[in-house]
Amino acid sequence: MGVAAAWTGQATFALSSNGTLRASLVPSSGVDGASWTNEAAIARWSATPREFLASLDPDGGFAKRYLINPTVFRLLGDIDGKRILDAGCGQGYLSRLLAERGATVVGVEPAKSLFDYALERELELGQGIRYVQADLATLPDLGRFDAVIASMVLCAIPNWPPAMRACVEALVAGGLFIVTLNHPCFEGLADGCSRAGRQDRRRGRAPARGRNVAT
Ligand SMILES: C[S@@+](CC[C@H](N)C(=O)[O-])C[C@H]1O[C@@H](n2cnc3c(N)ncnc32)[C@H](O)[C@@H]1O
Repeated sequence: MGVAAAWTGQATFALSSNGTLRASLVPSSGVDGASWTNEAAIARWSATPREFLASLDPDGGFAKRYLINPTVFRLLGDIDGKRILDAGCGQGYLSRLLAERGATVVGVEPAKSLFDYALERELELGQGIRYVQADLATLPDLGRFDAVIASMVLCAIPNWPPAMRACVEALVAGGLFIVTLNHPCFEGLADGCSRAGRQDRRRGRAPARGRNVAT
């Protein structure tokens, strides 16, 4: 599943013997690992064109319509009257779906073009969603929430542990924290495909179509 048109990258995940998960996600071009900071990632997301953001309405696009949204809503159960934090809300499609179902929603998004789009839709629809432009790693106190959702977000934050901590600290006791992530085996698939294409051309064959090249 692709993350967004604005992104291609390489993720590494490691589970240590004490159960700690370490993850890093580095773009495949233009930025090296050392300079891949939260600020650099946010600057990249801020360049997402408005036309692309609009194309994701109303349900976030194909993968979210069929995979993520049904799972997230099944996990949430009845959300009427619940307070929900959409952590890293992007252009806000999930915030809007949550508000439609009766939740009181706060969306946090640091990237300017995504934040501006979410706010623009709120001004148009008047659903009562509060949007806050902030990095989750330095989240201001927004109160406590019955559920926090970080959908396809922690994998996009270079320094993700403080962001994850802020999500957990924003929960009421017994609150629900929902995280969705790409499976690491799908990261770098685009690179794998282009590598396979180059190899096939060197051997004088047409690049393979539909072959599994995730090696
Ligand atoms: C793949 S998008 C997912 C957006 C949204 N949750 C969705 O499902 O459409 C990743 C999002 O994480 C946001 N993000 C990146 N760094 C962040 C940070 N430090 N704090 C909060 N959000 C961040 C990006 O700006 C982008 O909106």
